Amino acid sequence: TFGIAELESSLATLHLAAPSSVSESADTLINPLDVCRSLLADILSGFVESGPEAAYKSIQWPNNIYNGDLSVVLPKLRPGCKAVELAADIASKFPQNHPLFPLPFLDGVHFRIFLEVDAFARILFPFILNRGRDYGTDVTPGLRKTSSPDEGHKKLVVEFSSPNTTNELHGRHLRSTIIGAFIGNFYESMGWDVTRINYLGDWGKNIALLKVGWERFGNEEAYQASPIEHLLNVYEQINSLFQPEVAASRRARDEAAKTGQDEGQAQAEIEGQGIYAERNATFKKLEDGDEEAVTFWKRIRDINIEKCTDFYSQLGIRFDEYTGESQVSTETMLEVENLLKDKNICEESSGAWVVHMQNYGLKAGTAIIRNRDGATTYLLRDLAAMIERSRKYSFDKMIIVTANDHNALHFTHLIHILAAIDMKDLADKIQHMKFNETSNMADTVGKGYEPQAIISHVETAMAAALEADEEKKTFFGNPNKSAKTLSIASLLVHELSTRTTSAHSFDTTAMTTFKLGTGPDLQYWYAKLCAVLKTRDGDTQLSDEDYKFLAEDESAANLLRLLAQYPEVIRATYNSISPQSDDIIKYLAGVTEQLADTLSSDEDDDAEGREQGEFEAEGEAEAEEKTFGPGYITLFEATRIVLENGLKMLGITPYATE
Ligand code: ARG
Repeated sequence: TFGIAELESSLATLHLAAPSSVSESADTLINPLDVCRSLLADILSGFVESGPEAAYKSIQWPNNIYNGDLSVVLPKLRPGCKAVELAADIASKFPQNHPLFPLPFLDGVHFRIFLEVDAFARILFPFILNRGRDYGTDVTPGLRKTSSPDEGHKKLVVEFSSPNTTNELHGRHLRSTIIGAFIGNFYESMGWDVTRINYLGDWGKNIALLKVGWERFGNEEAYQASPIEHLLNVYEQINSLFQPEVAASRRARDEAAKTGQDEGQAQAEIEGQGIYAERNATFKKLEDGDEEAVTFWKRIRDINIEKCTDFYSQLGIRFDEYTGESQVSTETMLEVENLLKDKNICEESSGAWVVHMQNYGLKAGTAIIRNRDGATTYLLRDLAAMIERSRKYSFDKMIIVTANDHNALHFTHLIHILAAIDMKDLADKIQHMKFNETSNMADTVGKGYEPQAIISHVETAMAAALEADEEKKTFFGNPNKSAKTLSIASLLVHELSTRTTSAHSFDTTAMTTFKLGTGPDLQYWYAKLCAVLKTRDGDTQLSDEDYKFLAEDESAANLLRLLAQYPEVIRATYNSISPQSDDIIKYLAGVTEQLADTLSSDEDDDAEGREQGEFEAEGEAEAEEKTFGPGYITLFEATRIVLENGLKMLGITPYATE
């Protein structure tokens, strides 16, 4: 544990007392830079009239160690001041020979503070080593000052992956899977109770169409051999027979519209025959609970869940609940529907029940609640699903991770309709986390694949990358296991370092390289660090000399300063409206880069080499020989903790070779 007592005792080694007035927003037991901020605010408020809280708020995190460890925004400290004058004033009063803070220097309106590394290490090391796997996060209840301990954990429901049982697990589902898993991990490490839900697209007319297809093209043997592949194939066949009918129905609608006839009627005529009619009848059977239809539905649902669960578990991902469109109860749907009807929110339109969205806060749009033939819609199911979830989990927040283009309008409708039926409270708790659904995955993996094929492709590329890199291949050994483990990291990091607004490239060659910040490279430096640490036993009693050595080695000092920023990076991510993982990856990549410099004695060459992605043997060979004193070993252990915490936060199991 790391509590006030531990913090005070490390401050005492510097003859410093704990900060006297600690800001509400300071997490002094979570974030070591908040300790420094608080101490600095104490000093500043002593000779500026703005009071300790304003002083604290004027101190920022520069986001880049080359701009210092902290920076005071002078106009915030004394509004309307001339920076040069205030700087001179502060400088004349600033304590001489403060153990942590040398005299700050002026840069524009900023006063930049570079901490005394020698002293700061005495605070930072015990901080990181004691908090261990909780370093950087907020998991210990009651630690965060801003929430009282008895408030309990907040509850998050995260819905992600949610593939459809009549389609491949598409690129957009893979993205949702990886992003959603990160969101779950992330909130969990920030002290939330998290429930992970997979909302399968396991209901609707497409399932009925598949059943119609099965009757024509289904083959038990082919199914046994490769179930998902066969089902997809059957679906493809029936769908190609069906599509011309869909086109005909559209044409009929358009023609009716032109000639002023009833569009619904025109479509109904076409849809009353052929595969349309078969499909609709089958769906009706399914909704009425017909035994044969239900047995078929259950069979394909089960096999999909089985294959997906296997796939997810290889990625280190699990769900608390597999639910889906089929699981929404008829009663809840009726409840929603009746509410909508009672309040005159939905109205009949050619036999269907619809909501005209221009009456409910949107510019335009029609949302269909129930189809002309009486079938429930995706929207009605979802409305009921949201209500059921809120009853079951009484969550504080629900994040639904799903593709933008595909679902954006749907969720906008859903949220506005919930508000219209006096469930604004619930609507406000729902966040649609969107991402760009364009994906090149199908180009690589082909059509009609089982989810496993996604991993196999990456694994093949990873094996080739290892084969082509003698040093990595030897270092990792165990080619099969290494290719497997590293490929999972490749896939996850590749996704998590792509901004959600960018398309999904699924470039298996790029994701499996050892360039700075890729999954394999992060794993490599973690494993490398473990290998260095294994040869030394942890003598953590550091002498004054040890601290001095570190402070004088520029790359070691920078590494140490970087480690202090981890909680800042996490906090910034947490405070953003929709937490993204790419800043965490950039940060971890920065740590490995600095680590590489520290491990090698010839740092400048290596820094350049790594930038070009060709960091190679020479520096590393030296690193093996370089002997590291106890100061370095402690620094490396702290680095290992940060890398491990970061990797786990991303959902990656750190890989240390034997
Ligand atoms: N199955 C949908 C798809 O493939 C995603 C489900 C999104 N979640 C929801 N509650 N509608 O795009």
